[in-house]
Amino acid sequence: MAAVFPVVAVVGLGTMGAGIAEITARSGRRVIGVELDATAAAAALHRIEESTAHSVERARMTAEERAGLLSRITVTHELSAAAEAQLVIEEIPEQLELKQELFAELDRICPAGTVLATGTTALSVTRIAAATQRPERVVGLHFFNPAPVMQLVEVVRTVLTSAEVAEAADAFTRGLGKSPVSAGDRAGFIVNGLLFAYLNQAAAMFESRYATREDIDAAMRLGCGLPMGPLALLDLIGVDTAKTVLEAMYAQSHDRLHAPAPILGQLASAGLLGRKTGRGFYRYA
Ligand code: CAA
Repeated sequence: MAAVFPVVAVVGLGTMGAGIAEITARSGRRVIGVELDATAAAAALHRIEESTAHSVERARMTAEERAGLLSRITVTHELSAAAEAQLVIEEIPEQLELKQELFAELDRICPAGTVLATGTTALSVTRIAAATQRPERVVGLHFFNPAPVMQLVEVVRTVLTSAEVAEAADAFTRGLGKSPVSAGDRAGFIVNGLLFAYLNQAAAMFESRYATREDIDAAMRLGCGLPMGPLALLDLIGVDTAKTVLEAMYAQSHDRLHAPAPILGQLASAGLLGRKTGRGFYRYA
């Protein structure tokens, strides 16, 4: 049976975009990566090369399969290249105006049948869809970090998303070997709606010097069986990203649990964003 969406464009090749490009190419699809920043584009290709080399070392794929995977990915700075895809996945920074502008542009560029997916974590998918003339063909596809490893994808439907598009998005994620869950359009969806209040409270607990970062993380790993403690996870997600997500959630929920702990702002201002800058709550060699 033919794959759902044989050609996929990924717009924005940061950590998430690169991971999604990798797993999409791994599923046999052709991937058009669109990235305006040449340094970011080179870093993304490097990350995909390293990650797939590791998969070969671990005997999860052969060297030939890796070569095939890499040959299916092309990277360009021309958004117009997205017109070749049946599905476009947006993974640009979490700013509503930026995403709305991009979706309006994609709507002009892409054929009427193309499905447009946003990777937003906490913004309104409905408001992004409303920037297009095809809101019934807009969905949320929310992957988790690190995308090549995490099993889940949240498929977010707005009141306007057509059943056919939501089903195709579901089938696409299954084709990547992921397990989709379906969520309505509310900031944070299922996972972050639950996770971020907890992460925020962990940051506040550390800030109040109630316990050390090591003890907070060890407590949640060893006491709750989580793979990672909350402060290490904030470093993985990115302190800046976590702060932006919390702000967007707070704007919708007005729940004080989502009011970002001040330390997140301080770390972000100091450029201590977590793993990606070599230092956040922890230092990385
Ligand atoms: N890319 C590709 N592969 C990766 C990777 C990455 N960035 N990070 C880890 N891996 C692979 C490793 O290579 C390793 O594979 P092998 O066994 O073949 O060597 C495997 O994952 C396990 O990694 P490690 O042995 O280094 O360490 P680990 O067992 O602790 O696993 C982890 C690492 C998968 C990140 C695990 O700690 C984990 O699941 N942590 C929780 C992550 C999480 O909660 N993510 C969701 C964040 S919220 C989010 O993403 C939503 C949002 O909108 C912000």
